[in-house]
Amino acid sequence: MTTIPQTGVPHDAGTATADREDYAALCAEVSARTEEHAAARQHPKGKLTARERMEAFFDDGQWTEVGQFVGGDIHAGQTGAAVHTGFGKVQGRMVAVYAQDFSNKGGTLGRVEGDKIIALYDTALRLRIPVVGMLDSGGARIQEGVVALSQYGRIFRKSCQASGLIPQISLILGPCAGGAVYSPALTDFIIMTREHSHMFVTGPDVVRATTGEEVSFEDLGGAAMHNFHSGVAHYLAESEPEAIDYVRSLLDYLPSSCESPAPRYDYEPNPQDLAASQVVGDLVPVSARRPYDVVEVIQHLVDHGEFVEIQQLFAPRIVIGFACLGGRSVGVVANQPMVDAGTLDVDASEKAARFVRFCDAFGLPIVTLVDVPGYRPGTQQEQAGIIRRGAKLISAYANATVPMVTVILRKAYGGAYIVMGSKSIGADLAFAWPHAEIAVMGAEGAVSIMHRRELAAAEAEGRDVEVERARLVEAYRTSNVNPDLSVRTGELDGIITPSHTREVLLDSLELLRSKNQTHPHVKRHDNGPL
Ligand code: HXC
Repeated sequence: MTTIPQTGVPHDAGTATADREDYAALCAEVSARTEEHAAARQHPKGKLTARERMEAFFDDGQWTEVGQFVGGDIHAGQTGAAVHTGFGKVQGRMVAVYAQDFSNKGGTLGRVEGDKIIALYDTALRLRIPVVGMLDSGGARIQEGVVALSQYGRIFRKSCQASGLIPQISLILGPCAGGAVYSPALTDFIIMTREHSHMFVTGPDVVRATTGEEVSFEDLGGAAMHNFHSGVAHYLAESEPEAIDYVRSLLDYLPSSCESPAPRYDYEPNPQDLAASQVVGDLVPVSARRPYDVVEVIQHLVDHGEFVEIQQLFAPRIVIGFACLGGRSVGVVANQPMVDAGTLDVDASEKAARFVRFCDAFGLPIVTLVDVPGYRPGTQQEQAGIIRRGAKLISAYANATVPMVTVILRKAYGGAYIVMGSKSIGADLAFAWPHAEIAVMGAEGAVSIMHRRELAAAEAEGRDVEVERARLVEAYRTSNVNPDLSVRTGELDGIITPSHTREVLLDSLELLRSKNQTHPHVKRHDNGPL
């Protein structure tokens, strides 16, 4: 590790070289002592120190620390701020990182810590490189009062300025409490460790005092709660090293900024990928009522079967994540028929919407795999705001300008057909497998609306209504539930055999490489549903 101290070097022009060497030795000594103290406080809890986390994160443990002693007093043996900031490489590409040091004043944030984080952001914005935050903190330093609070305000503002320009990722490796939670909340991805990370706006004590509710740290803001229920987190790691590895893998798929091209890897076509792509159709049962795991389908279509899933535990009826096709990074969105038949609900809509917006912000093409029976019906969903929140997915796709290719694997009904990256909403190319069922609604529902009078007449005449209904359902299925109308009207560009899907995706993305992706800038911004 290289360190660049930014404070305290004596200015006396006549200072002897020996004094300077002493000063360097003193810096090293204070640094070593501080790290020893940090290890003594963190290790018994099963946590790494901030520096160890940095080392685990960067290639070969190499990084350059900046401002190590800012806010400290070397001569008094005092280290600096309760946050370390620095730069290093991940798979050869530069990344800016700050790591809060819980062993130092509980990792709390005061003026100096805020200034360091903001300075790191400013450099990352100038260099157009991602920012990763490692959070482990008691929040705003109470002793510094509103000064500490205002620093959060400045960090929020900086993070909002950076949003869409550079990727921002938060690793929660300890407490993250109070309004401080909004700092990671504004970033693109949040990774939490199972045992030690907590995020809540008000902790268990305040909850008990104000509402009488007894709740544990875990239930209120643990990693499981935020991964399964709130959707705040994007990955649940079993340990700190696993959390750090996940972030490194995630960065592999992301460009350094919205101005850089997505990373490209040397890809050699190989027999395994070819074989997998040829049997992908076997994974999808023809009967629309039978479930299957769409993650397996994705793995059969992408390079080396490698798919980095995001928010795997939240709203699992939709699957999102990154993969490569022909060595190029893409975002994948797919309905998951294994969970409630893959219906769209409020959480699924928001999960996919934010992901589509991320891909669009950073120039990553979007591949959408559709198998959706429609929106999840019922009072619960209407009260939860399926109209307002479902609209977010429409807004995300409709405003995206990156290359978008959609494949309907089995069924696409009603509004959900349109919303899931249809051509009418903005996909550049759309295809369907031969057995695809595409219609305004399912046959049973359609027949009861369209043929209500005939069915009533059959009943009045004493005919068998169920036989009549079955006949009408069959007739509707034959004439309406198929991709024919979509193909004839150009809403689908072709019917493809499952075994050709990977090839079609590769060709489509190649074709769309020169797509003009500029966003029109006449308006200040849209006012879509947030
Ligand atoms: C000052 C703090 C602190 C804080 C912790 N410390 N939080 N100092 N301000 N907010 C100090 C402790 O005094 C202690 O100092 C050291 O950090 C370690 O804390 P412990 O309590 O001993 O550790 P632990 O038992 O692990 O508990 C950690 C904790 C707890 C759960 C985070 O400290 C806690 O509940 N802190 C308050 C959390 C909180 O409510 N924060 C919200 C602040 S308001 P010593 O010297 O003994 O080592 C906020 C708003 C932001 O953040 C606004 C944005 C808009």
